[in-house]
Amino acid sequence: MHGYDDVRTAPRALATEAVHAGRDDLARQGLHAPPIDLSTTYPSYDSRGEAARIDAFATTGAEPDGPPVYGRLGNPTVARFETALARLEGTEAAVAFASGMAALTAVLLVRASMGLRHVVAVRPLYGCSDHLLTAGLLGTEVTWTDPAGIAEALRPDTGLVLVETPANPTLTEVDLRAVAHACGSVPLLVDNTFATPVLQRPTEHGARLVLHSATKYLGGHGDVLAGVVACDEEFAGRLRQIRFATGGVLHPLAGYLLLRGLSTLPVRVRAASETASELARRLAADPRVARVHYPRIGGAMIAFEVHDDPHDVIAGVRLITPAVSLGSVDTLIQHPASISHRIVDADDRRGAGVSDRLLRMSVGLEDVEDLWADLDRALRQRPERAAGNHRTPAAAARP
Ligand SMILES: Cc1ncc(COP(=O)(O)O)c(C=O)c1O
Repeated sequence: MHGYDDVRTAPRALATEAVHAGRDDLARQGLHAPPIDLSTTYPSYDSRGEAARIDAFATTGAEPDGPPVYGRLGNPTVARFETALARLEGTEAAVAFASGMAALTAVLLVRASMGLRHVVAVRPLYGCSDHLLTAGLLGTEVTWTDPAGIAEALRPDTGLVLVETPANPTLTEVDLRAVAHACGSVPLLVDNTFATPVLQRPTEHGARLVLHSATKYLGGHGDVLAGVVACDEEFAGRLRQIRFATGGVLHPLAGYLLLRGLSTLPVRVRAASETASELARRLAADPRVARVHYPRIGGAMIAFEVHDDPHDVIAGVRLITPAVSLGSVDTLIQHPASISHRIVDADDRRGAGVSDRLLRMSVGLEDVEDLWADLDRALRQRPERAAGNHRTPAAAARP
């Protein structure tokens, strides 16, 4: 690992890793906050040595010893985040990308470059992940199935099985151990964005690859776009080679923000989950709500279907932020059929359980009573008032 020494020895609890992983060398260097290395290139008078290191990278994808050669090969600040996330997910390595979609693209390209272009996937997935597979943009071919159909859907050229659990946006859960068993030797990729390693560590159930849109809970403050894949060192090497060749790198400042975000991840996830489970309970008891989806493993995401027009609820919130994305300190609500899953064909979307009346809410760190008051008012929203609200949010906010 370039950039710093890892002095970890004994296994540590998740809360401790969240604060210390990727920072173990700092005190010995007389530092407290990790340095942000913005270099795009790294001077060296030893070009023979650089040639050897580039050859080694081309062979295995292992991070070059010593300073990086060029920013697209690796960055010490980003490496700190990768080390920390790998530690939290319990994997040998992690490879960070410019976004969650860049991370998924790299996984698909690794497998396609080995001639394994067929993917088996379970709906629902995040809308753009669904789109990337369905449209075959990377020359891959997808077979959609339910968890029970995975073994039967596998072919000799299947390179990957892909599931999300809890899934975006319905929060449907799959039995990871059963799915991993059904995959046989085909790598299972679990999108763990919603659960985070605080609630679930997919490799403990047999997954080989764990993907995060780090834009969400890992960053946690809605100010960094990023993706990461946690996996074994062999697969990580291939991912680094793809990242080097295709350029979907993470900016070092984003790496810094993500490392900072990780240190509060367990506290944020647990606090928001507690509020979410209370809101889910109140929504389930509310006659204006037709159905509530809240995962068995808990978490800070709630999906619910309303009897009336879901657009009125979106137009009616004042404290809650009406925006796509999730995992921030503030509570966000959106209408998947209009935004996060708009790009999925309407029949496929509905077939995956994403009803047109479904709303998806990412619960943040606000007080539960304030959130409930806002939700309650938004659910009371009548169509005539909502029509007024559509003019401009500022005008609508005036009494
Ligand atoms: C579950 C899930 N996976 C992947 C992505 C894609 O991540 P990004 O937006 O960081 O590219 C998202 C984005 O919403 C997501 O919700």
